[in-house]
Amino acid sequence: MSVNLHKQFAGGQVELRLFKHRLRAYAWLMAKTGSNKPVSAAQEKHGTAVGLKDQVGGLMKTTVALRRELHKWPEIGNTLPKTREQVLTALEGLPLDIKLHETTSGIAAMLTGDKPGPTVMLRGDMDALPMPEDTGLDFASQTDGCMHACGHDTHTSMLVSAAKLLSDRRSEIPGRVLFMFQPGEEGYHGAKFMLEEGLLDVAKNKDGSESPITAAYALHITASMPAGTIGTRSGPLMASSDVLSIKITGKGGHASEPFRTLDPIPVACEIVQSLQMMITRRIETFDPAVVTITKLVAGTTTNVIPESALIEGTIRAVSEKTRNKVHDSIRRVAEGIAAAYEMQATVEIRIGYPVTVNDAPSSDFALEVAESLLGEGKAVRMPAPIMGAEDFSYVLNKIPGAMVFIGGTPEGTNPATAAPNHSNRVMFEESAMAHGVALYAGLALRTLGVTLN
Ligand code: NI
Repeated sequence: MSVNLHKQFAGGQVELRLFKHRLRAYAWLMAKTGSNKPVSAAQEKHGTAVGLKDQVGGLMKTTVALRRELHKWPEIGNTLPKTREQVLTALEGLPLDIKLHETTSGIAAMLTGDKPGPTVMLRGDMDALPMPEDTGLDFASQTDGCMHACGHDTHTSMLVSAAKLLSDRRSEIPGRVLFMFQPGEEGYHGAKFMLEEGLLDVAKNKDGSESPITAAYALHITASMPAGTIGTRSGPLMASSDVLSIKITGKGGHASEPFRTLDPIPVACEIVQSLQMMITRRIETFDPAVVTITKLVAGTTTNVIPESALIEGTIRAVSEKTRNKVHDSIRRVAEGIAAAYEMQATVEIRIGYPVTVNDAPSSDFALEVAESLLGEGKAVRMPAPIMGAEDFSYVLNKIPGAMVFIGGTPEGTNPATAAPNHSNRVMFEESAMAHGVALYAGLALRTLGVTLN
């Protein structure tokens, strides 16, 4: 920089004007990115949250204890009787209207503030994964083949603590907070079932005014981001996820006489290759998709050409437009290649979670509130979506809001090499749950216009 400045001065009037212009542009950029005093700027707008952080500190012991208890007894899918019991016990005594869902183990708990106003929804998912746990933690899973490997135990516990914190501040709250404890996030469409069961039907305020849900937020811990940071972005945050199955039907026979058969194996191989070519040649580079073939089944022995071959895999996209285009293209490629060899391809696409799309104002707001709570540089705007999927997408298709990732790499571990979510060895930094509790509560309070104090 200093060398450049020197050159600018040596270059006469034109260069001097250019230099002044650049200096102004630089000052503008600094002001815009807020690196002059961003912490106080965010806090000026949203509050210093000193009292709120104290409250969170006071709740950490029970937050960690509940998380460990949930971790010990993981459950899978939409029916989580033990987990529901643990959550209900933890919520006991709070001024909440609790609705137990019937189609799933979902819990909708409503806090009504002392003043009328709109509703803000906070989600925590409660389900675990069908896999062994090899962390060696003293509160490791006591259920064989079942582990809280995606940190949903931390989400549930953080949401319970946020419910406690906000219940304590009920008198300040102009509106309502709906706590959504959801089962079946890991592929069981739990959020969709809760929506179908009337999750969003909110009664009127006591004074007869409406209390619409104006925003919805979900947090997700990740072992691959440093504790003390959060990340999110506007627009697509996570991908859609569909399951693909292609059956190629030919004609079986002797392996020594392929010309007398219709061998489905080379056709299956060609389809697998061509699907990858389709992705790079037919799908827009900046609206990406992934097709990964994860299963290829054909044949029984070395001297028999089988009658059929089966291809299975996953399809990811970050826009509905590309998602639909990929579906159509898979059908065209598979059926076309099979037909070229006088065979038949039967394509089945099972529709999974939609794209998780953050509303732009909500995600900007979440980043600001997080910065006011965690400090400068701790709220990171993610440059790109991730290709995992999330059923909070169903909620965001109905209510503007955002999903936010919370850093949870264990202390002393490198985020880049730490065992990731869904690993049998994943661990989370429990102190990071303080940020989650504060952020849940902060987002609810700020949405309802309460300054963080
Ligand atoms: Ni998860």
